[in-house]
Amino acid sequence: MEDIFSKLEQRMGPLGMHADDAHGYFTFPKLEGPIAPRMMFRGSEKLTWSLNNYLGLANHPEVLKADAEAAQNFGMAYPMGARMMSGNSNYHEQLENDLADFIGKPEVMLLNYGYQGVLSAIDALVDRHDIIVYDAESHACIIDGVRLHMGKRFVYNHNDIESLEKQLQRATRLAEANGGGILVITEGVFGMSGSQGKLKEVAALKAKYNFRLFVDDAHGFGTMGATGAGTGEEQNCMDEIDVYFSTFAKSMAGIGAFIGSRPQVIKFLRYNMRSQIYAKSLPMPMVIGSIKRLELIKTQPELKANLWKVVNALQNGLREAGFNIGNTTTPVTPVLLNGTIPEATHLTKDLRENFNLFCSIVVYPVVPKGVIMLRLIPTAVHTLEDVEYTIKSFKSIKHKLDSGEYRKEKIAEFA
Ligand SMILES: Cc1ncc(COP(=O)(O)O)c(C=O)c1O
Repeated sequence: MEDIFSKLEQRMGPLGMHADDAHGYFTFPKLEGPIAPRMMFRGSEKLTWSLNNYLGLANHPEVLKADAEAAQNFGMAYPMGARMMSGNSNYHEQLENDLADFIGKPEVMLLNYGYQGVLSAIDALVDRHDIIVYDAESHACIIDGVRLHMGKRFVYNHNDIESLEKQLQRATRLAEANGGGILVITEGVFGMSGSQGKLKEVAALKAKYNFRLFVDDAHGFGTMGATGAGTGEEQNCMDEIDVYFSTFAKSMAGIGAFIGSRPQVIKFLRYNMRSQIYAKSLPMPMVIGSIKRLELIKTQPELKANLWKVVNALQNGLREAGFNIGNTTTPVTPVLLNGTIPEATHLTKDLRENFNLFCSIVVYPVVPKGVIMLRLIPTAVHTLEDVEYTIKSFKSIKHKLDSGEYRKEKIAEFA
């Protein structure tokens, strides 16, 4: 027999195995100061490309004012309790109505957190007779929702409509035999690669197969579509999305999330989603602050226009300089390089210490072995000078990588 703790302490997991060498620098870094393109890291200022503050709302004066006033008027405690029992308010309902209006869904329900909201929504939407068909590169919260499901689940190759159709054929046969239904789950924007889910093509399969479509649009809300209403708007298929989810953690620069659908489904979720029935509702500053953020998204289209100006300059510039940025068609900008994990750490340290550039570094097992992904998140508050400096710096580090300067046995040390 094994002791649980000694087992954990020995194994640590694929990311945890680097903890001793990486903690505080490559993992769990502390970015300090107001949220902006320039923030402090270990005592010096860095040009930062790793915050999902797409529209620059985190430090917008009207947002700061709304958050502060709400905190002063209500504190962080109100309302106490779960929505169903004692945690409802007019503000919660107003935010739901404003969101429904914006995304063009009849009803919206607030969620405390995106991650637990998605997994709990999936858990509530299907029973053991139903079948889930989901994209292979789905976010961890979708995977965990699928794990909770007691019935069958079929995974289709990432964004591969032929593979989806095959799985829908299998699912249809099974559903017909068992008397269940089918829920297809995908994302509006895949947060690592920046590619869009092929929502329109997925939705078109409804003409041949009977299923409901759930879309996690965490990175698409606020950034995609003519008004920022998300990837459904961008692809002109919002009406075909049966359950639309997004979080406040990215474009809205807050915390919390929401889900939109037709009234009876939202009513069902309000009374059946365990993570909401048995957990405290969003505190008032989050709710009132989100009402303000949404108002700014609606009334200041220049925020999204600025974001895309920076996105286009960054992505075009990187492509012209010969970088592989994959298939992104959204603000998420992966820069794909080849190298080992030690090389990735030496390169990142060079970027941070000598170029004063801070971006997220992604290595195996999140990307395949031998791939180093530097993930850049442009925002509305970056400038074209920031873009120019970054591309110039990236050219230098790529040259060093290709000429073997970062080739080391061990991962980079930091004091
Ligand atoms: C695709 C996707 N879904 C869900 C979430 C979870 O949202 P939250 O941070 O609000 O829990 C994230 C956030 O990282 C995400 O990228």
